Amino acid sequence: MSLVHETDFGTPLAKSEKMITLTIDGQVIEVPEGTSIMRAAMEMGTQIPKLCATDMLEAFGSCRMCLVEIEGRAGTPASCTTPVTPGMVVRTQTERLKKLRKGVMELYISDHPLDCLTCAANGDCELQTQAGAVGLRDVRYGYSGDNHLHAKKDESNPYFTYDPAKCIVCNRCVRACEEVQGTFALTIDGRGFESRVAAGQNDAFLDSDCVSCGACVQACPTATLTEKSVIAIGQPEHSVVTTCAYCGVGCTFKAEMRGEEVVRMVPYKDGKANRGHSCIKGRFAWGYATHKERILKPMIRAKISDPWREVSWAEAIAHTASEFRRLQKKYGVRSVGGITSSRCTNEEVFLVQKMIRANFGNNNVDTCARVCHSPTGYGLSTTFGTSAGTQDFDSVEHVDVALIIGANPTDGHPVFASRLKKRLREGAKLIVIDPRRIDLVKSPHVEVAHHLALRPGTNVAMVTALAHVIVTEGLVNEDFVRTRCDWDEFQDWAAFVAEARNSPEEVEKVSGVPAQDIRAAARLYATGGNAAIYYGLGVTEHSQGSTTVMAIANLAMATGNLGRPGVGVNPLRGQNNVQGACDMGSFPHEFSGYRHVSGDATREMFEDLWGVHLDSEPGLRIPNMLDAAVDGTFKGLYVQGEDILQSDPNTKHVAAGLAAMECVVVQDLFLNETANYAHVFLPGSTFLEKDGTFTNAERRIQRVRKVMSPLNGKADWEITLDLAKALGSNMHYDHPSEIMDEIAQATPTFKNVSYALLDEKGSVQWPCNDASPDGMPVMHVNGFARGKGKFVITEYVPTDERTGPRFPLLLTTGRILSQYNVGAQTRRTENVIWHEEDVLEIHPHDAEERGVRDADWVKILSRSGETSLRAKITDRVAPGVVYTTFHHPDSQANVITTDFSDWATNCPEYKVTAVQVAPSNGPSAWQDSYAEQARQSRRILNDAAE
Ligand code: SF4
Ligand code: SF4
Ligand code: SF4
Ligand code: FES
Repeated sequence: MSLVHETDFGTPLAKSEKMITLTIDGQVIEVPEGTSIMRAAMEMGTQIPKLCATDMLEAFGSCRMCLVEIEGRAGTPASCTTPVTPGMVVRTQTERLKKLRKGVMELYISDHPLDCLTCAANGDCELQTQAGAVGLRDVRYGYSGDNHLHAKKDESNPYFTYDPAKCIVCNRCVRACEEVQGTFALTIDGRGFESRVAAGQNDAFLDSDCVSCGACVQACPTATLTEKSVIAIGQPEHSVVTTCAYCGVGCTFKAEMRGEEVVRMVPYKDGKANRGHSCIKGRFAWGYATHKERILKPMIRAKISDPWREVSWAEAIAHTASEFRRLQKKYGVRSVGGITSSRCTNEEVFLVQKMIRANFGNNNVDTCARVCHSPTGYGLSTTFGTSAGTQDFDSVEHVDVALIIGANPTDGHPVFASRLKKRLREGAKLIVIDPRRIDLVKSPHVEVAHHLALRPGTNVAMVTALAHVIVTEGLVNEDFVRTRCDWDEFQDWAAFVAEARNSPEEVEKVSGVPAQDIRAAARLYATGGNAAIYYGLGVTEHSQGSTTVMAIANLAMATGNLGRPGVGVNPLRGQNNVQGACDMGSFPHEFSGYRHVSGDATREMFEDLWGVHLDSEPGLRIPNMLDAAVDGTFKGLYVQGEDILQSDPNTKHVAAGLAAMECVVVQDLFLNETANYAHVFLPGSTFLEKDGTFTNAERRIQRVRKVMSPLNGKADWEITLDLAKALGSNMHYDHPSEIMDEIAQATPTFKNVSYALLDEKGSVQWPCNDASPDGMPVMHVNGFARGKGKFVITEYVPTDERTGPRFPLLLTTGRILSQYNVGAQTRRTENVIWHEEDVLEIHPHDAEERGVRDADWVKILSRSGETSLRAKITDRVAPGVVYTTFHHPDSQANVITTDFSDWATNCPEYKVTAVQVAPSNGPSAWQDSYAEQARQSRRILNDAAE
């Protein structure tokens, strides 16, 4: 194994189809119009010295290292900023050029510490490389003149250092922050010799607007901005291309290693979702993989009040199998079930559902993906015929109008947000529908055209009102609708949305959004060019989640915004493998590829393939399993990679269900909250320790590659396999690629997928079969998967969760950039310094009415429970709305969320809870006892680790 080196062409790829022929150093080459001379030379293998140029950024032309001679032109232009022209004759290496470059390099080196041997970038420094390339042997000016050699380091960021002594003021970091990340946190401060990079107003990095994405660190050609992990460990010696295990963007990374130790994660330029960029989580927050609180040995206990007892893998597996068999014998075949994880690989998910269907002998399998995105599957398969988003992320480069609804991409899907912001800076327009003023509403060089700050719970009314304007103002794309959709259904729908009760004026009364803003947003969406809708859990996690997804699909069909780049309906999936977990048959009623268990042909195919009889009755969803447990009929649960006690609604009910079971098996990295109710703990493995695939929000199937041996001795798929065998299965796999072969054999949309294909192509977007052998970036190009697109009437039904005198405020929840989901991983990294605790955002009027000051403890009460948090007074939320995140178990927002759920899929209504907020003295009683319990288990674990 060696380091994967990606060629740096110096300037970005030109996208013109017109080709230009020129001659460089006597060789004739043809390149697209708009290509720089530097890139053209690089394409033919000639490296022109450079310092300020890199192909992730537009050419800047400041360092003067890349000078060339062009026949017929005076002077020595910079090759990075000079585009090719037809017939141009270029020389890259002449005596004059050599002298000029050497002179420039001398100036740089005269103000640079000569500590190469002890520098962290030794061997990976472009200044060092270029000094070698220009043949620098001496510095005529000496080293005693004015210099910056004693400038103070900024160590404030936990992941990288800034050492101004080594800065060559090439501006690459500043441009990376602007062009790639879109944060504009850096500037060049001072002039001439005094100029240096500054974060914010010469703040420490940590105190500036920097969001720690690391793009500047990656862009820096010297050791000025360097990962602390590289400083601590040294330069990597090999790398492995793999996929981020955090959000649904699915960024590709090079895991750069020394032996089995990760030195750094570098976003891969060939990654088709991220195109060489990442956020703080993927790039830096991988330390949890070796955190001392990881559990590495299996443990069992007879009762949840007993202490854990470490056992061998053999004993743990045999005990688990015998418990499940005992329960089934005593309480019936359907008394046990399991939960798959959207954090695990496709192969692991497939194996868990196979074991449940084939070896438990029932369909009691569900997934955390239902808890966030099942309305997407239901809504999009009803309207379009496929349970997935319609586009790829590259599509955003063609968007003219982006409509973001119920999503906060800069926090939840940061790399997509950066790509979107780039397009917005190029002139695309933005509509945001969200109760909260998310960052995209106004950030450097980005300003929303319309922010419709609706009351939580009124999405359906709002999207239907947009449709009302489109229909009644004659903005429907009739050609598209007549040729691509069911015309009769369209007419029924058009008559429905045109009713006065769906007008913006009426919807203003429930949503609180001025009618003229709704009208203006609808007109922009319908007439502004390519319009794309991106949505998140703010759409799905409602009692009408599925209805909103269908309302969104209606909008896209009515305006013809489907089937080409730049348009479409794009669900932004929460966890890394939400799409895959759904695709792999995690639902109690569906096999892989969304085929109902009652379908005889599909079931018989699986029966033949697996050699078992399969149940044709759909099984239980998680809430039904918990209800049945409380009722005494459901007794055993296998939970892989999920913390339902923290992530599922109505914590008290989840706890009651778990407590009523006789055998709860938790397979995870850490002793999570659910493990408090477990009888068996099977230590899980991280994405760094296994092979497999994840499927991201754009249906892209990507390889996860093992970079280190599992610390617990087994990858998750091996644990499930062992358990299935102990239950009597004869299934056998030597490698996850064989599981993927079985998935492909059994799932029409995956028919051509194999590890060989993924290794060859990098990734593919399903469907990948004989009809689309290379996968399908944009769906529904010539027709919908279901045939005619289906318009569905979307009647607005207010949620039963109402405000009133006791609970006058509406609580809605979301994420923050530095943390992920229930925080099990990110809380065990340095990311905690950005978010030590969940806080409650409250509008100044609501705070004043209640006598709450900023940072005060407040109690939040709902019909389900209470918790306490510190208040953050802000007008990001409207009066009447409060907001919090759910990353910390000691605040547990889900203690207060209710049992209401989506009518079609049971997806919980996390986004609307009626609450009251009142000042309090500190944490609630349950939080105090939780904190004490957590302290105790940490002490025990730390003692054990020592
Ligand atoms: S880490 Fe990212 S946000 Fe921070 S300064 Fe660098 S590029 Fe900008
Ligand atoms: S910090 Fe690095 S990238 Fe930024 S100007 Fe200095 S040398 Fe260039
Ligand atoms: S968390 Fe999401 S955006 Fe961030 S690096 Fe991972 S996949 Fe990319
Ligand atoms: S690389 Fe062209 S001017 Fe710096």
